[in-house]
Amino acid sequence: MKFSYVNPTQIQFGQGQIASISGLIPTDKKVLVIYGGGSIKRNGVYDQVKSALSQHDYSEFSGVEPNPTVETLDKAVKVVKEQNIDFILAVGGGSVIDGAKYVAAAAKHNGDGWDILLGKHKVTEAVTLGAILTIPATGSESNGASVVTKAATSDKLAFISPLVQPVFAVLDPDVMRTLPQRQLANGVVDAWVHICEQYLTFPAGAMVQDGYAEALLKNLRHLAATFSQQDDAWRANLMWTANQALNGLIGAGVSQDWATHMIGHELTALYGVDHARSLAIVQPWLLRNQLGHKKAKLEQMGRNVFALTDGPDLAEKTIQAIESLYHSLDVATQLTEHDGDKAAAIEAVIGQLKKHGMLKLGEHQAITLEQSKAILEAAVA
Ligand code: NZQ
Ligand code: ZN
Repeated sequence: MKFSYVNPTQIQFGQGQIASISGLIPTDKKVLVIYGGGSIKRNGVYDQVKSALSQHDYSEFSGVEPNPTVETLDKAVKVVKEQNIDFILAVGGGSVIDGAKYVAAAAKHNGDGWDILLGKHKVTEAVTLGAILTIPATGSESNGASVVTKAATSDKLAFISPLVQPVFAVLDPDVMRTLPQRQLANGVVDAWVHICEQYLTFPAGAMVQDGYAEALLKNLRHLAATFSQQDDAWRANLMWTANQALNGLIGAGVSQDWATHMIGHELTALYGVDHARSLAIVQPWLLRNQLGHKKAKLEQMGRNVFALTDGPDLAEKTIQAIESLYHSLDVATQLTEHDGDKAAAIEAVIGQLKKHGMLKLGEHQAITLEQSKAILEAAVA
């Protein structure tokens, strides 16, 4: 175990915390508030932001779509440059926050912003960013990752930089009250898979990372089981669990996988599958495909998270328990929504993985294009 760990995002957790941004953003800053398709106008979040910023000089950019596109975000980059914006406030879910991160970095780059996603430009400077989270799922509010789509070519790529990590994140569980149940289920599944990507590799004796990951997984299992009984505590626990799932702690110093995410991103980019749903389609089949590498950790998860009894089929039973958890949330584990030519869909995903250099995925780099194809053949019903 060898790592350097810091999470500098100040978390403002709890009901009524949106008001606290008035003291967290210096009044001499020129602020751009970035948000999505308008849910914040319908649920009172926008009004709270407006009142908190009454002493600030700010303008707005709206219309960031789910799975944010560079085509839309580049319009915000232009606004930041033209108006000399020096603070960005992202108000929304992972898409808005990821989009704001791209804007923050691209606004300080003289060339094409997409270079950042291609790895051609390394981020060396970014506009300071704060976030108000409206959907617990991605953990984007307190990490340095951003996933952006180029609609023209169906490329969904990620970049990571500490310079775009929000300086603060407001987590007020009350904002979740207006979330469609589908989005809440997505949040549980996305957070679950984030933990798995960092935990379901091979035993490394990392007691803190494993123990905390198991605690978070047990939370999500309980929240899924009590999905129909959402109250203040349920919402608060989901919001905090999803945040902790991808804030760097459980992944510190351990091998990570992320192959489910890489393959899932292609399904989203090509077929518009919700992010979390793309993961549920890929993950069980990927775990079966990689059983040789992941057996010991799957068994540990079976014992410690699902309380399954030991036996020769414990790893498979654990995968089945994961599938049952998704099914209980009405989330499919095969690509059932796609009614086009399934073989062509698999070829298209493989083509994109190849184009994006995703030739050896997973903690052992054992998921070659051939294995990705086998995984997809099982995942595409
Ligand atoms: O656009 P609005 O009108 O706000 O509507 C949104 C959107 O349609 C709506 N919504 C958000 N908060 C709401 C609400 N509706 C009612 N009440 C509220 N309080 O929900 C819809 C989905 O929002 P979105 O931001 O797309 O969801 P999510 O948070 O799941 O983000 C998904 C994106 O994050 C990326 C994904 O790839 C995807 O692009 N990810 C980012 C990661 C990161 N930065 O670390 C890691 C993840 O693995 C993931 O890849
Ligand atoms: Zn995710």
